[in-house]
Amino acid sequence: MRHDHLVTTKQLSRADIETVLDRAAEIDADPAAFADRHAGTLLGLLFFEPSTRTKMSFETAMKRLGGDVVDMGSVESSSIKKGESLADTVRVIEGYVDGIVLRHPRQGSAKMGGEYVDVPLLNAGDGAGHHPTQTLLDLYTIRENAGLDDLTIGVMGDLKYGRTVHSLAHALTNFDASQHFVSPESLKLPRGVRYDLHEEGASVREHTDLEEVLPELDVLYVTRIQRERFPDENEYREIAGEYRVDAETLSAAEDDLPVMHPLPRVDEIAADVDDTDHATYFEQAHNGVPVRMALLDLLVGDSE
Ligand code: NCD
Repeated sequence: MRHDHLVTTKQLSRADIETVLDRAAEIDADPAAFADRHAGTLLGLLFFEPSTRTKMSFETAMKRLGGDVVDMGSVESSSIKKGESLADTVRVIEGYVDGIVLRHPRQGSAKMGGEYVDVPLLNAGDGAGHHPTQTLLDLYTIRENAGLDDLTIGVMGDLKYGRTVHSLAHALTNFDASQHFVSPESLKLPRGVRYDLHEEGASVREHTDLEEVLPELDVLYVTRIQRERFPDENEYREIAGEYRVDAETLSAAEDDLPVMHPLPRVDEIAADVDDTDHATYFEQAHNGVPVRMALLDLLVGDSE
């Protein structure tokens, strides 16, 4: 891949995406062949927001390639507490490591951080902006379960603040995909994202009711209402719990409809879905390791 930093999925062509997914599939098929490939490579983890999957799967991925990580730890215990700027932090860390993974609550932070460093910087979520590495594992999961061609996908939940949604929607414009967005009026896709999709000639429809589209979907992607991004807690409470699927909801769907979720879920997907063939979200989370191994293999250290 020709990119130094991975900031948004807008910078990825179909060929770039396929390169990552194909490499991930190779790794999945024979992880041992990659075990020492990046011995000595060090990855810096800078997480200014909570994370379980993204951080741990990056760490697992780097270690499974033979490398190691250094972790800034919590904001509470770092110099950020003393008022250090993000620009200074990344400039210092780049002297220690071969690549940086950054998650930050401010939209645009990954783009800004990338301007200060020469080592590859991977955006692991910038506020309500983008989350491109999540999208690559989402695409990998979609490809395995439904295929990426001639895809009809429903994306439901918090489309306004959900960065995984923004990144996925952009990436899908590289494929022959019909995208159906289901949300309450107040959590519709941001105007900027809708505009970009329109410019790309994407097939997009918006709904407030899942029932309208559920039977025609090849994939349903559910997201969490992003409580931490609501300016007003009352507004959150009014909406939370409204967009929820359970086993009964899914009786109107194709029997083999994969239901995905970037996780963590709160109560958007009832536990009774876990025992059905629809549940694809744990497999999706596990795909974070081979896909992030592929990304690190291609972008960080001496790749072949
Ligand atoms: C997502 C995120 O952080 O944007 N989580 C993740 O990385 N798997 C989704 C979310 O927090 O709802």
